[in-house]
Amino acid sequence: MKKKQFFLILLFIAAIAYYWMCIKKGPEYYQPEVLAAHSNGANFVGSKTCMECHADIYDTHLLTAHYNTSAIASAENMKGSFEAGLNTISLRDTEVEMGKEGNAFYQQTKAKNTDEQMPPETMDIVIGSGVKGQSFLNWKVEKLFQLQASYYPAADMWINSPGYPDYLIQRPVRDGCLKCHVTHATNRDFSGKGNQYDRNRMLFGVDCERCHQPSEAHVVFHRNNPTIKESKFMLKLDTLSRQLRLDACAQCHSGPREAILKGNAFSYLTGEPLDEYSRNFYKGQTTSELDVHGNQYGLLTSSKCFKLSPKMDCGTCHDPHKKQRGDVTHFNQKCMNCHDSGTVECEAETTEINAMSNNCIACHMPNTPSKIMSFQLGDSLTTPVYVRTHLIGIYSKEKENIDKDSVEQLEKYIEEKMSN
Ligand code: HEC
Ligand code: HEC
Ligand code: HEC
Ligand code: HEC
Ligand code: HEC
Ligand code: HEC
Ligand code: HEC
Repeated sequence: MKKKQFFLILLFIAAIAYYWMCIKKGPEYYQPEVLAAHSNGANFVGSKTCMECHADIYDTHLLTAHYNTSAIASAENMKGSFEAGLNTISLRDTEVEMGKEGNAFYQQTKAKNTDEQMPPETMDIVIGSGVKGQSFLNWKVEKLFQLQASYYPAADMWINSPGYPDYLIQRPVRDGCLKCHVTHATNRDFSGKGNQYDRNRMLFGVDCERCHQPSEAHVVFHRNNPTIKESKFMLKLDTLSRQLRLDACAQCHSGPREAILKGNAFSYLTGEPLDEYSRNFYKGQTTSELDVHGNQYGLLTSSKCFKLSPKMDCGTCHDPHKKQRGDVTHFNQKCMNCHDSGTVECEAETTEINAMSNNCIACHMPNTPSKIMSFQLGDSLTTPVYVRTHLIGIYSKEKENIDKDSVEQLEKYIEEKMSN
């Protein structure tokens, strides 16, 4: 009898303790804050909620170009210089000056021949992690515009935004621009044609839920069931077909796509066939028509490596959760995983291979100038954006030296600019 009483008291204490813990954690612990909703009704909860259970992935993800490809402008992500003399670009009739006041950044246009000045426009959103460039977006109440000046890190200078004429314009930013650089945006016009957005429902960066689908249900389930170690309400990417795995990356890495067939620019979810949402612009075109900028999918799938390897996809060489740019050893090892077997070995002269420090990609995936994307550096000089081609193949020496040439061209330009 005594034993039973003691047990009941113990149970009562345990129940109170559990109840108290729940109150302390609060209902919001089980129900994370919803940051935005997908058009299918599923909710986004943001990568901060993934941290508690996937700390390793969360930590390395914060360093990736994906996570940093868009953000609210701040001193931490603004790469360009605001020093006098380095903070202007010159257009036909006007000059644009970059300025900052505390943590606020702006672009201001001044007429060249009069004292006329336009009111400053704030740089509210940064697009681009800053590897190749950064562009800036401005809110006018709820309407989003791209600003005139972009930043070009290779020459450490401000430039006229790619594709802009040499006079002042305002380019509305629609879903078609945002879709590859943010996780989700909520356009007031569902079709995405307008540039008016719900400012509180924009998720910056290419975050976890862009690749793994909106994850509210997964988080709620696992918070309520901490002992269950097998994932629930979560797409299993490793069980998808190769095409569906490729599609997850191709939504942003297959270049411009043809008109939307279903939903809007943000409707597609990983795991679905991408062609049902928009057809590939380049289908059936020759490899020489594929541009290196933004079309890694088209180029890789045209390579012999890909065509003759039934399992190869983007994940063969890239870990989507890690920053791997510049890790030559890692990438060479990936080539060797297939080319060390003795059947298809490199046939270049050993001395030449050694001269390139045995770096496979320097010769077989050379940095290549884009035909569609270039930067205007001055009145007469434009420089194309250089992107690593994913058409793995055998190239001439000329191409192998492209990295060097582009640097030399830039140095020459900067030298000229300094001496003027
Ligand atoms: C309360 C804990 C918890 C939270 C929060 C959580 N997860 Fe999970 N997740 C798990 C568990 C448990 C598994 C299964 C074991 C494993 O793979 O780590 C899992 C597995 C996964 C998997 C692998 C699925 C598979 O089977 O292939 C993905 C992807 C995933 N989670 C994504 C996310 C994302 C994205 C977030 C944030 C939006 C998130 N998780 C938040 C607990 C959590
Ligand atoms: C660019 C797309 C992308 C982003 C962003 C991304 N993932 Fe993944 N993730 C993948 C792919 C692809 C796989 C499958 C890898 C495989 O098949 O080996 C994966 C696998 C996983 C897995 C299961 C396998 C493992 O490595 O443990 C978990 C858990 C996971 N992701 C969580 C996250 C979390 C949490 C975030 C954000 C902090 C995130 N992912 C961001 C693409 C992405
Ligand atoms: C929502 C669009 C989107 C998706 C989905 C996406 N990417 Fe990206 N990816 C980008 C953008 C934009 C950049 C350029 C980021 C920057 O530097 O600002 C990028 C950059 C990269 C880079 C260069 C990283 C670096 O360090 O500079 C790699 C590699 C890459 N993506 C691989 C992948 C793979 C693999 C997948 C699929 C698992 C994928 N991406 C899915 C948009 C996307
Ligand atoms: C179809 C997908 C897609 C669209 C749409 C797109 N981008 Fe990109 N963007 C990319 C990818 C992928 C890269 C990464 C490098 C590459 O492949 O050239 C990139 C790179 C960039 C970079 C350089 C980032 C860095 O630091 O290296 C900037 C800046 C940029 N884009 C701005 C924009 C702006 C502004 C728009 C809208 C007018 C836009 N992009 C539309 C996919 C896209
Ligand atoms: C998943 C396995 C795999 C990986 C990883 C791989 N390859 Fe290949 N590669 C192949 C196969 C298979 C062929 C076709 C061989 C044949 O002709 O029979 C090939 C062919 C080639 C060719 C000849 C192309 C031509 O057009 O004649 C080159 C060059 C090459 N690979 C270089 C590389 C480099 C460099 C890397 C690393 C960036 C790499 N490969 C990664 C499987 C792979
Ligand atoms: C055979 C290996 C291999 C495969 C498969 C592969 N990549 Fe890459 N990728 C590379 C290498 C090597 C680089 C250069 C890395 C560096 O600059 O340090 C690269 C760079 C990139 C970049 C940055 C390009 C630049 O110059 O800024 C993007 C984006 C990218 N890959 C996307 C993808 C996507 C998307 C897929 C799948 C369609 C894919 N990759 C498949 C090897 C591969
Ligand atoms: C100095 C530039 C250079 C470097 C570095 C280099 N290669 Fe090559 N590779 C070549 C050239 C040139 C050929 C064509 C040789 C010929 O056909 O005479 C070639 C041919 C190949 C082939 C095709 C062979 C065949 O029979 O079709 C493969 C596969 C290959 N290389 C893989 C690699 C790998 C893997 C690495 C890194 C370990 C590498 N290469 C490093 C220049 C290079």
